[in-house]
Amino acid sequence: MTDTDHEENAAAARYIVVKALEDGVTIMGLTRGRDTRSHHSERLDRGEVMVAQFTDMTAAIKVRGRAEILTDVGRVEAGT
Ligand code: TRP
Repeated sequence: MTDTDHEENAAAARYIVVKALEDGVTIMGLTRGRDTRSHHSERLDRGEVMVAQFTDMTAAIKVRGRAEILTDVGRVEAGT
């Protein structure tokens, strides 16, 4: 895969939006493939927003704490 292909795939990849409704919300990126482990985590405080992307490395995203999550399949509130 060329760099350009990679950029295009990245741009086309799905995103989610996570808005923290309390301090200390964590967002974890879980690996794609045979094993599922956290490869990255971010901590958000109340009101902070993160736009997170599914990539060739990230197959699932875990959110802990009170947060509003928007995806292409809808809106969900975590931690309530
Ligand atoms: N490593 C798993 C995979 O690539 C990650 C994953 C994707 C997952 N969807 C999931 C883990 C749903 C638990 C539940 O398939």
